[in-house]
Amino acid sequence: MSAEEQSSAVVLQGLVKSYGPVRAVTGVDLQIRHGETVALLGPNGAGKTTTIDMMLGLTKPDTGSVSLFGQLPRAAVARGAVGGMLQNGTLLRDLTVRELVAMVGGLYPDPLSVDDVLRITDTVDIADRRTQKLSGGQAQRVRFAMALVSNPELLILDEPTASLDVGSRREFWGVMRRSAALGKTVVFATHYLEEADLYADRVVVMTRGRIVADGPATEIKARVGRKNIRATLADVGIDSLRELPGVVGAERRGESILLRCVDSDQALRLLLSRYPAASDIEVTGVGLEEAFIEITEGPDSSLTSGEDH
Ligand SMILES: Nc1ncnc2c1ncn2[C@@H]1O[C@H](COP(=O)(O)OP(=O)(O)O)[C@@H](O)[C@H]1O
Ligand SMILES: [Mg+2]
Repeated sequence: MSAEEQSSAVVLQGLVKSYGPVRAVTGVDLQIRHGETVALLGPNGAGKTTTIDMMLGLTKPDTGSVSLFGQLPRAAVARGAVGGMLQNGTLLRDLTVRELVAMVGGLYPDPLSVDDVLRITDTVDIADRRTQKLSGGQAQRVRFAMALVSNPELLILDEPTASLDVGSRREFWGVMRRSAALGKTVVFATHYLEEADLYADRVVVMTRGRIVADGPATEIKARVGRKNIRATLADVGIDSLRELPGVVGAERRGESILLRCVDSDQALRLLLSRYPAASDIEVTGVGLEEAFIEITEGPDSSLTSGEDH
């Protein structure tokens, strides 16, 4: 085992996976250190689930390798070191939440106490409810409890909040945070930039089967969290607009201007104070897909800083 594998929670090397003609993952290298909370961020079809399934040993890579704490995924999962929460898991019916969590815990050598798990996952109030009676948000917290009960060192969550409303989403992340605070390593997939930014220390951006950016959440947000400001504003030179702090590009079409911003709040404040005549102002987020394509194909595409996390 290499020193690299020993000191890391996760080491992915040269992972490739195709489904027939579809190249789902086209060469992923990634190292995750103990205690990191990492978001795997990318649009639908980017290869996040395929990568996670290979991490959990559920899908075999065509080439490349996965090491979790220096072990093969199946060995690490069997000893309870890894808790997984899949995108399309269902809950066993006709058991109460407490029974289900206890049953799953019984499969592992050194589980947490059921009471602790219920407390951490905020499921004490629904402990005696049968699984088929749960709301979407409650069901996700129970699935999280199932991932946590083995007392894993590593939690791997595939789009855990995809089907939830905003309130349940926030509750879920509160619960996740509490487990990350226990010193666990957490990897979660999401296609929401906001979630990656709020809940991860490090964001790994995937698109079209490969990693296109990797860095601290704030840095990634600055790269892909761009916004555009549109306004009507005649008689102002495009160069002076381009120089506004927060603005990285500006275009004019007749009386309309378009400002591409890394910090639209700052740009908007300055725009209004310097050019009070600006009207019909519109701020729109640039879609992740668009931002990713810019990263992948844009002029400065050397954005992966994978050498030193
Ligand atoms: N079992 C499968 N059979 C065929 N194609 C698949 C299968 N799983 C995933 N794919 C394809 O692989 C690509 C990556 O999918 P996936 O890993 O699910 O991405 P993500 O989780 O980022 O949305 C997509 O084009 C998807 O359609
Ligand atoms: Mg997926």
